[in-house]
Amino acid sequence: MKVLDIIKERRSVRDFTDEDVSDEEIETVIDAARWAPSWANTQCWDFVIIKDDEMKKRLLDAFGPTNPGKKSVEKAPAIIVVCGKKKVSGVKGGEYVTTKGDWLMFDTALATQNICLQAHALGLGTVILGFFDAEYVAKVLNIPDNVEVVVIVPIGRPARVPKAPKRRELNEIIHWERY
Ligand SMILES: Cc1cc2nc3c(=O)[nH]c(=O)nc-3n(C[C@H](O)[C@H](O)[C@H](O)COP(=O)(O)O)c2cc1C
Repeated sequence: MKVLDIIKERRSVRDFTDEDVSDEEIETVIDAARWAPSWANTQCWDFVIIKDDEMKKRLLDAFGPTNPGKKSVEKAPAIIVVCGKKKVSGVKGGEYVTTKGDWLMFDTALATQNICLQAHALGLGTVILGFFDAEYVAKVLNIPDNVEVVVIVPIGRPARVPKAPKRRELNEIIHWERY
């Protein structure tokens, strides 16, 4: 499959079949994540994999009832929690070197996109979830203070794939020479 086809065909999948995802499949998507680019190759990311039903139930409490992605946490056979070590990316000599501060959100986002694209190439579905109580999740998963819980990515075999939401057109977003 062409890269652009994989990019365009990936959807946020929130409904999964009961079929399991193997540890090998999880390792393949995390392998894609670790080859993402990062600030000075600092690779601030870590990934917690959750397959245990009791742990999944505890994670569910981090989501409000209005989040359409809550169902995906319930249904997915595996959950990837994407974490980033603080004060590593965008840092030199212990100081932030740009006005943007910590680049951990950026680097972990690149890794997360690799996960979603590799999962799609394997016939698996994912959805990136950012609207949840990250402090609660950090407590449940024993995440140390110097590590941020960034996003939660349920992964499984799609039971239903939604239609692609519309994208802004190229001529709306490309600014040739000047903004
Ligand atoms: C940073 C981020 C946070 C997101 N958080 C949620 C979320 O909390 N719940 C949810 O259902 N979808 C969430 N999404 C998925 C988006 O709604 C989805 O990517 C967008 O509507 C485009 O659809 P597509 O991924 O199928 O192309 C999130 C996506 C991103 C990138």
